[in-house]
Amino acid sequence: MSMRKKVFLTRTLHDFALKELRKKYQIEVHLGKIPVPQKKLRSKIKDIDGLICFPYDKINKETIDLAENLKVISTYSVGFDHIDTKHAKEKKIRVGYTPEVLTDATADLAFALLLDVLRRVSEGDRIIRDGKWKEIYGAYDYVGLDLQGKTLGILGLGRIGGTLAKRAKAFDMKIIYHNRNRISKSKEKSLGAKYVPLEKIISQSDVISIHVPHTKETDKMFGMKIFRKMKKTAFLINTSRGKVINQKELATALKKKIIAGAGLDVFEEEPVGKNNSLVKLENVVLAPHIGSSTEETRAKMAEITVKNLNLGMNEKKPIYSVGY
Ligand code: DGY
Repeated sequence: MSMRKKVFLTRTLHDFALKELRKKYQIEVHLGKIPVPQKKLRSKIKDIDGLICFPYDKINKETIDLAENLKVISTYSVGFDHIDTKHAKEKKIRVGYTPEVLTDATADLAFALLLDVLRRVSEGDRIIRDGKWKEIYGAYDYVGLDLQGKTLGILGLGRIGGTLAKRAKAFDMKIIYHNRNRISKSKEKSLGAKYVPLEKIISQSDVISIHVPHTKETDKMFGMKIFRKMKKTAFLINTSRGKVINQKELATALKKKIIAGAGLDVFEEEPVGKNNSLVKLENVVLAPHIGSSTEETRAKMAEITVKNLNLGMNEKKPIYSVGY
């Protein structure tokens, strides 16, 4: 009988990562339906030593309580709202995650959504594909908006929000931000970002980009009440978590032109099907949760995920660890 420690992956990873894991552990990769059914996860978690999971796998208290030998949960994501990290800590199970390596890629995507929705690139693409481009170069045809001089409100100026600020500064946008804790004056100066209260982000921004985690406090934070306080000409960008927005109310706000448009990479429920009310709207750009999805970044994430797991398996703190 094998005495190697057991690791369960709720989905496959890069070949190099699997190879690395196989050298040390007895690994099992879930290859079926995504996300792994809770029933299967719960039956596996009982006797594994390490778990590699993804942002849609719900690792809640009940699931954690079934684990008898689990030392570490290593998630292939910067977000860890899918894991009951508090309970994991109580059970002395370490939790590793993958920040930093995906900062640039996610900020790039937020900026891509911003550019796309303001300049109507995806909308134009649809017009051509649908054979609806009939006349060229009309004065009012497919006009978008300049970025220069527009105010970008960043909610959550951490790693990704700060990197977005750099992109926006290069495009001559004005940057305001709101955080629970104000960043240092020197950082504000280097980013050209001005701290304002939350109400001002909402009322003064031409574009709001959300970079806060999904928590009890931020759950459905962006709903009709906020949309009505935004400028009618404002856009909303979200690359954080879908549940920070009340999606039904956003669809209504976009449809009734209470706000001008949105660029979304994350949704309340994923994947988004073609019958979703957002899909029918022209003034929203939709991306299939690809914030970190570049070859380079995803490979780095896999590397960190394996390193975090290895450390936890050896009773050590992961490189990026949630609290313990
Ligand atoms: C994460 O890592 O949490 C992101 O959502 C992936 O793009």
